[in-house]
Amino acid sequence: MSEGSVRFALVGAGFIGRIHGLAIQAVNRVFGETPLRAEAAILIDQNAALAERQARQLGFAEWTTDWETGIDGADAVVIAAPSFMHRDIAIEAAARGKHILCEKPVGRSVAEAEEIAAAAARAGVTNGVGFTYLRAPMVRHAIDIVQSGLIGRPVSFRGWHAEDYLADPAAPFSWRLDASLAGRSGSLGDLGWHIISIARALCGPIASLDALAHTAYPHRRSGDDPARPVENEDWAAMLVRFRSGAVGTIESSRIAHGRKMDIGFELICERGSIAFDGERTNELSLYRADESAAVQGARTIRINGAHPDYAAFIPAPAHGLGFNDLKTIEIHAFLQAISEGRNLSPDLDEACRIARICEAALAASASGLRIEAPETGMTEPKVAA
Ligand SMILES: NC(=O)c1ccc[n+]([C@@H]2O[C@H](COP(=O)([O-])OP(=O)(O)OC[C@H]3O[C@@H](n4cnc5c(N)ncnc54)[C@H](O)[C@@H]3O)[C@@H](O)[C@H]2O)c1
Repeated sequence: MSEGSVRFALVGAGFIGRIHGLAIQAVNRVFGETPLRAEAAILIDQNAALAERQARQLGFAEWTTDWETGIDGADAVVIAAPSFMHRDIAIEAAARGKHILCEKPVGRSVAEAEEIAAAAARAGVTNGVGFTYLRAPMVRHAIDIVQSGLIGRPVSFRGWHAEDYLADPAAPFSWRLDASLAGRSGSLGDLGWHIISIARALCGPIASLDALAHTAYPHRRSGDDPARPVENEDWAAMLVRFRSGAVGTIESSRIAHGRKMDIGFELICERGSIAFDGERTNELSLYRADESAAVQGARTIRINGAHPDYAAFIPAPAHGLGFNDLKTIEIHAFLQAISEGRNLSPDLDEACRIARICEAALAASASGLRIEAPETGMTEPKVAA
């Protein structure tokens, strides 16, 4: 690591890779005095034209199409390639002593997530996972409210992440529907990971779950094949019991017509409730049952400098942050973790727990049985008798 800075290799310059690239540049300017600065060292994408263009636009010093040689000169590797590449890149990066920030879902299965986590732990590098929405200041404010005890203990949770990118039955097959590339979790792997991470941050570990997973459109057009089988679910829902005694529902859908970026939750606590709507990231709804009936009602808290990280961007309240800013916050937190010699939270161990929850949900749906201890260290979920 060069004095005071971390040289980043960014692998994958598609949708989320570009946003990581912007964040690697923005972080030094937004957060100013940071213990470590981010250096945009090398951008890597197998598509040469894309790699060249993104490197030029995003201000990376170099670009290449070959990740195996490309990561050599870096201190940290951001893995923003598709899930089927996570394992190989992460294991090699760890073996070469690089810090790792891996996109979700980490790998294609519990087994791959565990292999990646073990490799990072063996190498002793800082690792973290791209749980973007856990970086949202109003989600973190909700977690702070719960932890402060202001509205008491969580009682029930209703969480969802719904989008409509495959709502059209005629939408063609893509790598996300191929289990050998995306994994056996479809909407759960792509969207469920985010809302499960928020559920756990608010309510703690999951003790048991029941689930239903459903593929509404089991065949899609793929090249000359008019009806290629879809290999993972379009929609899933879980009924969960948290170890704390709280209960909840968690839903993911990639076929929800009209829902563009609909991640949200409602958390009922003993003395109030909190609601978050991801299409209104800069607001949080809070209801306090201890207020007098005359003024009781859900209030909208608008983002301001009292909420985590907002003041680094804007001095005035309610001007709002966007999705790209969440990645800047994530890179800043990652740099802090590197400078303190610890993992980013959530890290690869948390990714393993979430991967196990998703596989447990598929097992619960297939068997019709409740799964106990879905996030513990077994690769095969244990089905309750
Ligand atoms: N955290 C989030 O909010 C979020 C959002 C979107 C995607 N993701 C995750 O990020 C990952 C990438 O998703 P995306 O939507 O950006 O995909 P994408 O298809 O838009 O981009 C992936 C890029 O990786 C490149 N690539 C593929 N194989 C490669 C290889 N061997 N070497 C170098 N480059 C390679 C592709 O050319 C492409 O440009 C996935 O795991 C996805 O689940 C996370």
